[in-house]
Amino acid sequence: MNLDFTGKTVLVTGASRGIGRTIALEFGRAGASVGCLATTLGGAQATADLIREAGGTASAAAANLAEAAEVEAALSALEAELGTPWALVNNAGITRDKLMMRMSEDDFDQVLAVNLKGAWLTSRAVMKPMMKARGGRIINISSVIGLHGGAGQANYSASKAGLIGLTMSLAKELGSRGITCNAVAPGFIETDMTGDLPQDFREFVVKQAPAGRLGRPEDIAPAVLFLASEQAAFITGQTLTVDGGLFL
Ligand code: NAI
Repeated sequence: MNLDFTGKTVLVTGASRGIGRTIALEFGRAGASVGCLATTLGGAQATADLIREAGGTASAAAANLAEAAEVEAALSALEAELGTPWALVNNAGITRDKLMMRMSEDDFDQVLAVNLKGAWLTSRAVMKPMMKARGGRIINISSVIGLHGGAGQANYSASKAGLIGLTMSLAKELGSRGITCNAVAPGFIETDMTGDLPQDFREFVVKQAPAGRLGRPEDIAPAVLFLASEQAAFITGQTLTVDGGLFL
């Protein structure tokens, strides 16, 4: 199956590094005009530059996803440059892991603000133009921790479980307009976010997962591209786990 995004604009949050950068680069390779969004303009631009160097089309914008006004300004700038988005990938996310006993209200609020409300804000911003175009794709990057919980991750797991609820609700609201909304739930993926996982936990994952290894951003991007494709029109409201079988 050839996933071709020529003529389509795709917006990716958290595109400066890790999973988001790989997703943005893959969309660029598949012909999409890619709007790269990150906390810093430099980070977003670095990814956009890589896409352009490879012959693709890309623009960059910066926004703190916890700030509604910044999100709206960044998304309208990208839309003005690249046109109506066909797809939005809500990939940006943060952790502030601590056992509940030690977790501050700010730890909870910040993680929910970026991971969950950020996706709500970006989805709200793209929804109108997508509805007008009578088609589109929203893909939320959740986590296996949103499905199964994680000790020391009450804030993160609540945000990622919340994304799954958001996904199903948007699927129901937008389905009649040709817009699908799905989530991808990655397992443990080698990025800056998991850089300080203890060695014994890594060994446990490698032993436990049928795939016998941690994941790489390149394992997640194809799932996202498929769900963003025209071919995935009849899949909506779903959460696709991509974890090498870790939670089987
Ligand atoms: P990362 O830490 O390498 O990259 C996170 C990205 O989000 C960066 O581009 C960063 O600039 C952006 N970001 C952070 N706070 C932001 C804010 N306030 N406003 C705008 N952008 C912001 O993380 P990684 O590993 O690439 O994760 C990407 C997504 O995948 C996250 O949502 C994460 O929760 C999720 N995920 C990651 C897993 C892993 O094992 N790495 C497993 C499951 C889910």
